[in-house]
Amino acid sequence: MTRDWNFDEEVDRSCTASMKWEPEVLSRVFGSGRDTLVPLWVADMDFKCHPAVRHAMEKRLAHPIYGYSLKDPAYLPALISWYKRRHQWEIDEQWVLTTPGVVPAVNYIIQRFSQPGDKVLIQPPVYYPFARSILNNGRQVAENPLKIADGHYRMDVDDLQEKTRDPRVKLAILCSPHNPVGRVWTRQELDTFGRICIENQVRVIADEIHCDLIMPGFKHVCFASMSDAFAHHSITCLAASKTFNLAGLQQSSIIVSDPVLRQELYTQIENLGFVNAEGGTLFGAVAAAAAYNEAEPWLEDLIVYLHDNYTYLKTFLETELPGVTVYELQGTYLVWVDFNGLGLAEKERIRMLEEQAGVGLDHGDWFGATGRGFERINIACPRSILARAAEAIVAGISQFS
Ligand SMILES: Cc1ncc(COP(=O)(O)O)c(C=O)c1O
Repeated sequence: MTRDWNFDEEVDRSCTASMKWEPEVLSRVFGSGRDTLVPLWVADMDFKCHPAVRHAMEKRLAHPIYGYSLKDPAYLPALISWYKRRHQWEIDEQWVLTTPGVVPAVNYIIQRFSQPGDKVLIQPPVYYPFARSILNNGRQVAENPLKIADGHYRMDVDDLQEKTRDPRVKLAILCSPHNPVGRVWTRQELDTFGRICIENQVRVIADEIHCDLIMPGFKHVCFASMSDAFAHHSITCLAASKTFNLAGLQQSSIIVSDPVLRQELYTQIENLGFVNAEGGTLFGAVAAAAAYNEAEPWLEDLIVYLHDNYTYLKTFLETELPGVTVYELQGTYLVWVDFNGLGLAEKERIRMLEEQAGVGLDHGDWFGATGRGFERINIACPRSILARAAEAIVAGISQFS
């Protein structure tokens, strides 16, 4: 097969209403007063998707009626085959529900499986819509912060034991791989997490949206694939959106092997007015099926490209800016960088990045207080863009200090 893609190509995303690139959004979020920023924030990629995905959508587009649709017959077999061959997880097609995104699914699960005033556990620094979803639904956040040991993020098991003993904690969100710290949890870490949650009757929401973006030398283990007990005690949120750059199509798959839980979640999804809880969105399903079936070589090349981007960024920032630490990227395309060693105040660093350097990054404290002094850098872009941003960061900081 010809490898008909070029990750070095800079693709103009202006006038596509891209959340990541839209100038109006950038000036509102970053408030730099600049009309251009290099945006390495929102977690989508600046790469064209695999040609097969576009062709599949074009084929469906050619029929000019886009009415209510049922399950796309290609979708579930493609999803099931993908998880079997990439993750050795045998998903039964009965177990799959669909929602218009993982964040909606997290909301539906919180609504259905906890009561107002209950607590939901998260492991900060972590993807900030988790806390937002918990609070917006009138629940409380229970924090089990990750800790740093020997330069690596780990779960704080003693604290997890203690926090989950609180009977008000009903759910725990496992972010696996972890956004933003880039950890791919080992089988042993997941086992400990799962056992503690089961012992304390805390149901697990396993958000594994980044599970295909695994750097060489690491292996993602699907939480629910580890044992029947883990499967029955958890709900797993998956999507082709991060893997294949399809986030705007709003299609995700929620895997619930326990029939009672599944029926309850199905009812919740339906009650909230999403008509196709078994099949998803029209184009989302078409695109995901094509991606799972045909884009594996694209993904393999993408991972090599991302890993090279990571190596470039780590070497460049750590060489040019002594005091800055780039954490190991085991999974995702989101790199977690510690600027604390520069001794800059939070406000100064942010002003320097936004105004002097002209880069738009996810600031660490968005992910919780333990993220203060950090930045999350999205490296899923052509190397030329990444290099432009990295050079601007170095120049901005050097000017400042
Ligand atoms: C851990 C995690 N979960 C969920 C999402 C978003 O999922 P969706 O767009 O399907 O709502 C993201 C996006 O960055 C993420 O990093």
